[in-house]
Amino acid sequence: MAKIKIVNLVGARPQIIKASAISRSVKNQFSGKINEIIVHTGQHYDREMSQVFFDELEITKPHYNLGVGSARHGKQTGLMITGIEDILLSEKPDCLVIYGDTNSTLAGALAASKQHFPVIHVEAGLRSFNKKMPEEINRIMSDHVSTLLFAPTNNAFKNLMAEGFRPENSPPYSLDNPKIYLTGDIMYDNTLFFASLAEKKKSFLLEKLQIEADSYVLATIHRDLNTDDVLRLNSILSTILSLAEENRMVFVMPLHPRTSISLKNNLGDLSARLNNSKYIRITPPVSFLEMTFLEKNSKMIITDSGGVQKESHFFRKPCIVLRKETEWVELVKNGTAMLADADSALISAAFSFFLNKSANLEYPGFYGDGKSADFILKEILMMLE
Ligand code: UD1
Ligand code: UDP
Repeated sequence: MAKIKIVNLVGARPQIIKASAISRSVKNQFSGKINEIIVHTGQHYDREMSQVFFDELEITKPHYNLGVGSARHGKQTGLMITGIEDILLSEKPDCLVIYGDTNSTLAGALAASKQHFPVIHVEAGLRSFNKKMPEEINRIMSDHVSTLLFAPTNNAFKNLMAEGFRPENSPPYSLDNPKIYLTGDIMYDNTLFFASLAEKKKSFLLEKLQIEADSYVLATIHRDLNTDDVLRLNSILSTILSLAEENRMVFVMPLHPRTSISLKNNLGDLSARLNNSKYIRITPPVSFLEMTFLEKNSKMIITDSGGVQKESHFFRKPCIVLRKETEWVELVKNGTAMLADADSALISAAFSFFLNKSANLEYPGFYGDGKSADFILKEILMMLE
């Protein structure tokens, strides 16, 4: 039988990481059956936001890079749709695989569904129930034009059912008869695969950053609501600086370019105070293996990132979430993540709570068995064969 052709669509940093699990599974388990074409929209383009992941996670170089870059939502998404549609029409794949909730995800979903290519959505069903987030619009729209939807958690699966998706649908699957699955989280595949390699290859970071294992906090901030609202960014970073100084505890902060730009342009004084503090280590974005090492050896994690919230759980670290709500509600219900918004008092209270309590926390297996990519590809093959 002829090999099936899938287009694996990436654009933003976390999608390259997620797609690496599918790429690895194609190589290791399905190379005789699946031909994979990687398309990069170019949404992220700095070396440390894109190329570094291709090098380190050993993913094939993209067959196409649309080079779309940064722009307002409409222009960025529009350029992506145009470019993806052209590629789909010339490559004629059997399906398009999309990840998560970025503008690249939505562009892929719209381009493929309108040209009648089945859309496979990995990380389907997540909801924040806050439509002011661009990601919430991207998720809802993408789910509703997908044919196979892979939900990473029970809650995500339930969200899909609440929106009318029916688990009992039977083949043949199509846009009008989609199939929903509960798969576990594809990021967990990667953490299991790369954690020991990270430990082996990246331990030099302790010396480089002058930190000790289990005694520093790892913090990331990148959501538009935190970076573009200067009051929120000021509140978060001032609180972090105070906590670091008061507790004489190092905070390692690999900053997304969006955050560095806003800090430099809007909060020059605070930026100088952060850079002068002996407890603050601001760095450019780090590679996935470096991030994995830093997460695994941290005492606590503070973040507004979806991926980093889950990785805190994989490494059994308490997590303070710099948002009002999260899609990963099981973490909050479990008591190992706390929602602190950008509120100084809430962040400080959560910090003190976790500092004293971290030994007694439990981390149940919410995210599957680390074999989501194999499961997803098996189901895609079943649909297409
Ligand atoms: C995007 C996703 C977000 C995801 C995040 C992962 C959307 C709407 N948002 O947010 O869901 O959590 O990626 O990291 O799709 N920039 C650079 N270099 C780069 C990339 C971006 O300097 O390589 C700067 C530019 O100033 C750009 C800004 O970051 O304007 C925002 O980039 P963009 O891709 O629009 O959104 P993210 O905030 O990265
Ligand atoms: N990450 C990384 N380097 C960094 C920050 C994050 O490799 O400097 C990884 C992180 O480990 C996780 C993913 O990027 O796997 C999360 O991406 P991000 O926080 O940009 O977006 P989100 O998950 O919120 O969409």
